[in-house]
Amino acid sequence: MPDGSAFDVLVIGAGAAGMMCAAVAGQRGRRVLLIEHMEEPGKKILISGGGRCNFTNLEVKPERFISANPHFARSALARYTQADFIALVQRYGIPFYEKTLGQLFCDGAGSARKIVDMLRAECAQGEVTWAFNTSVEAVRHDTGFEVTTSAGICRAERLVVACGGLSIPKIGATDLAFRIAEQFDVPVIAPRPGLVPLTFGEDELAHMTPFSGASLDAVARCGQARFREAMLFTHRGLSGPSILQISSYWHEGEAIRLNLLPDVIAEDWLKAQKRQRPRAELQTVLGEVLPQRFAADCVARRAPWSLHRPLADVKDRDLQAFSQDLQDWPVHPSGTEGYAKAEVTLGGVDTRALSSKTMQVTAVPGLFFIGEAVDVTGWLGGYNFQWAWSSGWAAGQAV
Ligand code: FDA
Repeated sequence: MPDGSAFDVLVIGAGAAGMMCAAVAGQRGRRVLLIEHMEEPGKKILISGGGRCNFTNLEVKPERFISANPHFARSALARYTQADFIALVQRYGIPFYEKTLGQLFCDGAGSARKIVDMLRAECAQGEVTWAFNTSVEAVRHDTGFEVTTSAGICRAERLVVACGGLSIPKIGATDLAFRIAEQFDVPVIAPRPGLVPLTFGEDELAHMTPFSGASLDAVARCGQARFREAMLFTHRGLSGPSILQISSYWHEGEAIRLNLLPDVIAEDWLKAQKRQRPRAELQTVLGEVLPQRFAADCVARRAPWSLHRPLADVKDRDLQAFSQDLQDWPVHPSGTEGYAKAEVTLGGVDTRALSSKTMQVTAVPGLFFIGEAVDVTGWLGGYNFQWAWSSGWAAGQAV
């Protein structure tokens, strides 16, 4: 640990938000110490996007973030935008591409490391001091902040808490941000796992596991939220982008409704099939647009009257009822796969306690919370990193 009094700003957590904040503050001439309990920074960046880091999204909008205070993210997202981060990535000559739905990924296996290297270089430009393998033991506050770490005591006027949420403890997530919030009487919205696969009770699961590994294009709905992307059957329930997205809007006890034929009005389509192919069976027709075994199961469970009969012999009224089932199929999750599998933590430090311009705790001048620790959670697709960059930048300008 370098001389513990030589700093203006202490940043706890060298993840996406902490590195951005430290770099920005350092480049403003602030003397910054970045404290990280792992042996290297940016572990989540390294594993993100399958090693290619989906670092932002072309379509970032405040409405695509979940928070008890939906307007909070607006200011930071507008002051440091996806275009700003893209310009930084371009300045470093890091190749990237749009995968789908505005999602920007680095190009090449393991290329996420280039984002970490870029942030390290930005920190070096700001002469940021690193303290790796250093855990925080206590935080005290009088005129400034004093942080006791495993490597010694350090002090500064400003303390930025950037140590993330609870997801994926095995690569370093801890509840330190929430403990510091509690210590300073900063309210926390109850955290829960987000962007996470959903699990089901025995009965419902029995109808899913036979299709484990199969995926289909579906719309998943819960309340006002709806997402159309791939859905994947797993041995524990459902996953895939549409399910991960809707999981962030789902609360225990609620049903999720699936549209399994999102490209058509199922009733019109089935009636047209009946006209055009009167000798075909419902199961055959459905097996052409859904995974075959799943289609067979749907028909066996929801339309047993159609088995071994040509469509010509099926009543329009029955087709209509079955169509409704296919486009409004309820599933009842019993829970989620938890923080071990969640990409993000919903909830966190209550934004009503923070300045939306600087991320500073209004009641505790000098104390800042940024990134995933704050109750702002983005959609799947680069939104969460953009929040880390934007909130980190906002605090970096203010500390
Ligand atoms: P982050 O978790 O990045 O950093 C916190 C840092 O604090 C870590 O380095 C941690 O070790 C450190 N820390 C924690 N406790 C500490 C303590 N007690 N003392 C000292 N240090 C401590 N998002 C996205 O936009 N695009 C994507 O492609 C992906 N992909 C993705 C994949 C997977 C598997 C996961 C788990 C998550 C994603 N995400 C994502 C989400 C994204 O990774 C996440 O939102 C950001 O990393 C949050 O940035 P923070 O800096 O706030 O926390």
